[in-house]
Amino acid sequence: MKFEMTPGEILAAARAPEPGDEGYDPFDAFDQAQGAEHSINPYEVYNELLAQCPVHRGSVSEMLGAVSVSDLMAGDRQIVNVLSYDGVEAVLRDGATFSSAGYAESMGLVMGHTILEMDEPEHGQYRKLIQQAFTRREMERWEHDIVNPVLDHYINAFIDRGRADLVHELMFVFPVHVIAIALGLPEADLPAFYRRAVEITNMASQIERGFAASQWLYDFLEPVVEGRRADPQEDLISILAHAELDGQRLTNDEIIAFCRLLLPAGAETTYRAASNMMVGLLSDPAQLEAVRADRSLVSAAVEEALRWEAPLTGISRTATADAVVEGIEIQAGTAVNTSLGSANHDPSRWDDPERFDIFRQPKSHIAFATGPHLCLGIHLARMEMRAVLEHLLDRLPGLRLDPDSEAPEIAGLAFRAPATLPVIWDV
Ligand code: HEM
Repeated sequence: MKFEMTPGEILAAARAPEPGDEGYDPFDAFDQAQGAEHSINPYEVYNELLAQCPVHRGSVSEMLGAVSVSDLMAGDRQIVNVLSYDGVEAVLRDGATFSSAGYAESMGLVMGHTILEMDEPEHGQYRKLIQQAFTRREMERWEHDIVNPVLDHYINAFIDRGRADLVHELMFVFPVHVIAIALGLPEADLPAFYRRAVEITNMASQIERGFAASQWLYDFLEPVVEGRRADPQEDLISILAHAELDGQRLTNDEIIAFCRLLLPAGAETTYRAASNMMVGLLSDPAQLEAVRADRSLVSAAVEEALRWEAPLTGISRTATADAVVEGIEIQAGTAVNTSLGSANHDPSRWDDPERFDIFRQPKSHIAFATGPHLCLGIHLARMEMRAVLEHLLDRLPGLRLDPDSEAPEIAGLAFRAPATLPVIWDV
């Protein structure tokens, strides 16, 4: 794959002020929104509450002293928080009692009607149509054709310097680039696509810009979808435009809503997960060296990172009927927050859960959810995390934290990641 623009050029063009909107930079706005919940460590609170009871009445803000997206989603409804691994698993597996339709009032306003807010049977039909594009085998092709070249392109830009901020120069940008290529977008459109991707991802803090980005993406993608219907190429939009099940095809609105969803669901989560993984490894050089010496440990590092610091700490459902979870009664209509972060630190399942330890006995975690809405991009996410770790180990000898910078800190309530990750290596 050939690239015409350097990463620096792509980012500079994406950040360039727009007429009438000087002084606004979507990347800075995103960084600032992240800083808003900077000092909160939810795990201490989860631990305390979980020790008392696996299910708590009340909002996340009451629990943690901060405003959370899931509270906003709940509106006036009663809220419960499910904290234990078994409780979270039970709720997420029972899509009939615990509906996803509530997303229509939050994410749906910006994304359109996506798979995320569908219940059965609509969800299953739609998922069957889309998942053909995300099989493990298809991801092997993506790895070779898209992910590896994109990673090399970004690393080439800083490799001779001997130092970089891995969050800003690699993790934040490469997953969006991968999605743009997978969708079949021309490289010249990448800066504009990046800009809107950041704005749609930042919608919780700047909703008006989220709406504008959503409309921009519609106007931008609709002719592409029409073009692919007439003249299919080897890309995701073509697959979606021609996917057929029992004579049913996806409409333009459905395809565009799905493409929009890929930005927060596919790019933001991956950047956070990959950054968290590198914080875990770089903060414990013995574990990093173990992975460097024995690459069969790469998958263990990926899974432990997802357990240790799930990039998305919670997801919400609405009870459609009275139910009982972990012995606690939940009334119909209640907003049910399942805490993936707390479940992944449940001490009845993992010893010393706060410790990052790639040598743990393998046990499934719940960072990708479970049940009908199990992450559709699970193979892509794992492959991207493995690939970025392999590239960093292969290409940056002696990779370590920059001793002149402060130790990185993973922060955030609903979404977790370090703000920066300064590293050095031997050149
Ligand atoms: C480490 C990275 C990732 C994590 C931790 C993650 C996590 C999740 C979680 C927790 C859900 C369930 C949401 C809910 O039901 O409320 C989900 C769903 C989803 N994810 Fe991911 N995700 C990641 C990467 C990706 C990627 C790379 C893609 C790109 C294809 C993707 C696409 C989706 C889609 C389309 C859904 C909706 C599935 C459905 O509703 O049936 N995700 N993800």
